[in-house]
Amino acid sequence: MRIMPNRMDRGFYQYQQEFEDKALEVLRSGWYVLGKEVEAFEQEFASYTGGGYCVGLASGLDALWIAFRLLGIGAGDEVIVQGNTYIASVMGVTINGAAPVFVEPDMYYNMDTSLIEEKITERTKAILVTHLYGQASHMDEIMRIAGKHHLKVVEDCAQSHGACYQGQMTGTFGDVGCFSFYPSKNLGAFGDGGAVVVKEESLAREFRIFRNYGSEKRYHNKVVGANSRLDELQAGLLRVRLTHLEELTKEKEKIANRYLREIKNPDIRLPEIRENATSVWHQFVIRCKNRTSLIEYLNDREIGTIIHYPIPPHLSEAYGYLGYTNGDFPITEQFANEVLSIPMYNGMADEEQQIVIDAINQWRA
Ligand SMILES: Cc1ncc(COP(=O)(O)O)c(C=O)c1O
Repeated sequence: MRIMPNRMDRGFYQYQQEFEDKALEVLRSGWYVLGKEVEAFEQEFASYTGGGYCVGLASGLDALWIAFRLLGIGAGDEVIVQGNTYIASVMGVTINGAAPVFVEPDMYYNMDTSLIEEKITERTKAILVTHLYGQASHMDEIMRIAGKHHLKVVEDCAQSHGACYQGQMTGTFGDVGCFSFYPSKNLGAFGDGGAVVVKEESLAREFRIFRNYGSEKRYHNKVVGANSRLDELQAGLLRVRLTHLEELTKEKEKIANRYLREIKNPDIRLPEIRENATSVWHQFVIRCKNRTSLIEYLNDREIGTIIHYPIPPHLSEAYGYLGYTNGDFPITEQFANEVLSIPMYNGMADEEQQIVIDAINQWRA
């Protein structure tokens, strides 16, 4: 039996009838872009997060770059970003011409808040915090530092739908919470999708205008915007998934707790949870020194794994122009060399979990 790192089909079959009914309803409605499904999803997702307003967009990357655009952050400005984030976070900054300033991660794979202040200059305009792998970052400290230095805070919640810090949901602390609904995400669509959550109605309105070629009224364009609309089909399907998100999160939490209890191998480091924070277990990320041997060993036993992420943004070809080299961010680089995401998905059978646990426990570095 081959065990894949993720099985998005299982997530579909869990609620197949509801997804199919909704898809047919939208297809038969004759209305496919910016309609009642998007509006309803925006209200339901805003209320789920406890944030003020939600605006649906075409992707998580769009949510990020449009956020920085509307916050007025661009050429000549600097944004603090954690070094081990997914490269899309960094692109959200650089698409606007701003410069990323990398900070090393902490032991929870989120931004090490003790290293932020030394990176702040007179050009720093914002902190972009990624709640990586599904775990909420150290938000009270980030908000304290941002407040002290008058910085904007943008949260990359592409992996953290529903994760909380001190009971408050990620995406509702900063100026803008940016979400992705890429199919593999905890709240996944059946294609691309994204959204922002903001506190102020005026900012939500700016996002609504920007996503539709800068217009609120057809053919009356106020600003040079983008085409970044969440479509009706995705919004409808997301509404179905959202009604089940709590049980889906609990299911992942149960698998994660089982892994934490039952994986016992001195050569493997298990993930840890920050005090006052929760994880929605977008990924279950272990660490080991001899990763290649573990990947090959698991692969021989038909267990698939993924590395999130093997090349940190500062060493990517895309950001070669920033001039960084190996050794500039040792912790980020160590994580890139050691992290491994093991199979974990909604609808994962007990037997599949057992196979993963047994295989990892029997591995010797
Ligand atoms: C942390 C993070 N930020 C941003 C993105 C970009 O989201 P999208 O793929 O919807 O553009 C992703 C996912 O791909 C992500 O994991």
